[in-house]
Amino acid sequence: MTDATTSSPGAGRERAAAAAATRGGDEPLLFVEDLHTYYGESHALQGVSLRVHAGEVVCLLGRNGAGKSTTLNSIVGLTPARSGTVRFDGEEIRRLPAHRIARRGLALVPEDRRIFAGLSVTENLEVASPARPARERRWPIERIFDEFPMLAEVREQDGATLSGGQQQMLAIARALAGEPRLLLLDEPNEGLAPVIVQQIGTLIDRLAETTTIVLTDQSVRFALRHAQRGYILQKGRIVYEGGAQQIAQDPDVQRYLAVA
Ligand SMILES: Nc1ncnc2c1ncn2[C@@H]1O[C@H](COP(=O)(O)OP(=O)(O)OP(=O)(O)O)[C@@H](O)[C@H]1O
Ligand SMILES: [Mg+2]
Repeated sequence: MTDATTSSPGAGRERAAAAAATRGGDEPLLFVEDLHTYYGESHALQGVSLRVHAGEVVCLLGRNGAGKSTTLNSIVGLTPARSGTVRFDGEEIRRLPAHRIARRGLALVPEDRRIFAGLSVTENLEVASPARPARERRWPIERIFDEFPMLAEVREQDGATLSGGQQQMLAIARALAGEPRLLLLDEPNEGLAPVIVQQIGTLIDRLAETTTIVLTDQSVRFALRHAQRGYILQKGRIVYEGGAQQIAQDPDVQRYLAVA
């Protein structure tokens, strides 16, 4: 890992994001305000608020059980919030069913990846692709295979037989097939070997040139290398918000996070 990979991809985007943020009054692509989500009686999200502007990569950090997945699942309607606001591109989406939220261009790559067993890699991608001719799609399957050579090699293989790294790549590729404007990645590195983690980092940097991204992680190291800004969750609340450099340098931050 070199410093060139850590500083260069973010610099232009950081300026773009800062410009977007200071335009003042501009509606963020994603606007989440005072979100409350429950599992039965358990109050998992206790007033989560966050903003993501178009073009940004934003990370959501926090220890085990802090509420990162619940936040993403509430945004996409899989674990609906009981109250609060979720606006995507200016429109309230909190009460919409998950499939309608997905159709608006919000894609979640879940923590457990949920690759379809019994379907080949190609079929996993096909089921997620819009029913339009390939030439009219942003991510036709051949383009996906160009971007993910690792998947091209195993295109006929049953999704269930892939390695953890291949499954994570397929989960991201499958989300892209749906042409999202906002991609939510829930702990994309979990359980993966360092070489795969590096590939995922490179992929995130490349995707960030065209797609707004929110990613979660338990530690700062990976997330801050690829995000310009971050929020830290603790026990269902946002306890810290800042730019990547600020988070990386603030000695107080580590007490909110798992030891990396
Ligand atoms: N399906 C569920 N039923 C009941 N409680 C849940 C469920 N999923 C999560 N929780 C609880 O909600 C809280 C937030 O969990 P969540 O999975 O969002 O955390 P997280 O930050 O994603 O953690 P991790 O880093 O382990 O993925 C935790 O207390 C957790 O035990
Ligand atoms: Mg989680």
